Amino acid sequence: MLTTVDNKKKYSIITYGCQMNFSDSEIVSSILDNNGYKSSDDYINSDLILLNTCSIREKAELTVRKKLESFKKLKKKNSNLKVGVLGCMAERLKEKFLIEEKIVDLVVGPDAYRDIPNLLREVEVGNNAVNVILSKDETYGDIDPSRFSSNGISAFVSITRGCDNMCTFCVVPFTRGRERSRDPKSIIQEISKLRDEGYREITLLGQNVDSYLWYGGGLKKDYKNASELQKKTSLSFSKLLELIAVNFKEMRIRFTTSNPQDMSDNVLTVMAKHKNICKHIHLPVQSGSDKILKLMNRKHTIGEYKELIDKIKKIIPNCGISHDIITGFPNESENDHKMTLELMNYVKYDFGFMFKYSERPGTLASKKLKDNVPEKIKQRRLNEIIDLQQKHSYFNLKNYVGKNCEVLIEKESKKSSQYWCGRNDQNIMVVFPKKNQKAGDLVNIKIDDNTSTTLIGSS
Ligand code: 5AD
Ligand code: SF4
Repeated sequence: MLTTVDNKKKYSIITYGCQMNFSDSEIVSSILDNNGYKSSDDYINSDLILLNTCSIREKAELTVRKKLESFKKLKKKNSNLKVGVLGCMAERLKEKFLIEEKIVDLVVGPDAYRDIPNLLREVEVGNNAVNVILSKDETYGDIDPSRFSSNGISAFVSITRGCDNMCTFCVVPFTRGRERSRDPKSIIQEISKLRDEGYREITLLGQNVDSYLWYGGGLKKDYKNASELQKKTSLSFSKLLELIAVNFKEMRIRFTTSNPQDMSDNVLTVMAKHKNICKHIHLPVQSGSDKILKLMNRKHTIGEYKELIDKIKKIIPNCGISHDIITGFPNESENDHKMTLELMNYVKYDFGFMFKYSERPGTLASKKLKDNVPEKIKQRRLNEIIDLQQKHSYFNLKNYVGKNCEVLIEKESKKSSQYWCGRNDQNIMVVFPKKNQKAGDLVNIKIDDNTSTTLIGSS
């Protein structure tokens, strides 16, 4: 077995998918560090490789399968190498994984990471090791994440787990279980530690942050049975956000993801009131057609979404807004697609994430709706929304030219070691020539030029 000089086994975690998965990998890393393992960037020479996986679209799963395939050679070279699958694919496929992918030794779902040391002991004695039990109260609140791939400036802080929304296209409620919120005391503790270590920015994470609700623990859906006292002393997302903004004035605060149905006016007023809360809202809409929203089980109409957008622009005039949109959902007609383009023209988003519908086994849409938009049409519609988004992004970014932005320097620009790169309040990437600044500085940058994704400036 390959071991380090201090006799610790080496492990590597490779993460796919959303920010939540990256945050979870930091929790897993902390658990392993405290159980005699040592983190390594060099997965080829590790004793244990863990893949933290994503199931959101079929393509995400295929990427993981390909990676697993590539480990066959490694296992031949090193018969002691163990391979584990974590995250959403582990939860979705469970024991089946061990049969389908013979090189996998360990399968662990998102709520079972505390069990990894026990499971690894089982693996060592040649047993199958699977734990995919979903939990009502696991938030890993007491675990101090190991920031193994961090830039030391910006960190994720998870505040909720799971999702209760049951959008018909989405696998997440099945892979990450019911929604629960994390104890605010442990959130504050984690942020205090980050501040003391020199971090300058945090992003509060959850599948649906606006529905954060702390009433002493338990599932969000059980709140209705809580005592009067629990209800009176409960903490909503807007209150949590304000508490953090007031207590950590020296840090920039971001959050994601918001669901239009849960975003309250209070959140907007708290954002407007506190300078250190970044002015950016990621507000997935998925489609511009009420018919499609209904089939998706989204709980708002386009009229209500537009009202919310108007309110955001009124209360926070300089707010950046981004989106997620799916093209080719079952029964999406040409007219529904046009309505999506119309909505984009109404909002003029700063940026967005756009996807072709991918049917996920087990979801309500897969059971009830035929995936009936031909691949070619899905792709053409996707191209059209990407083209329109690029136009809007370019136009919106052009508006910054000649103005000044506050930018938190994150790292050297990938394209040139002579340039810094960071993000402005609205979450837009800014690059500018280095002077005598350092990563972590908050600097005032004059914007001189733009592309559709980046602002180019000078200090
Ligand atoms: N197919 C395509 N896109 C999906 N998303 C979620 N599920 C699917 C699916 N089955 C997209 C949504 C969501 C984002 C995280 O991923 O737009 O907001
Ligand atoms: Fe992928 Fe969703 Fe799981 Fe994140 S929560 S890893 S996006 S399936």
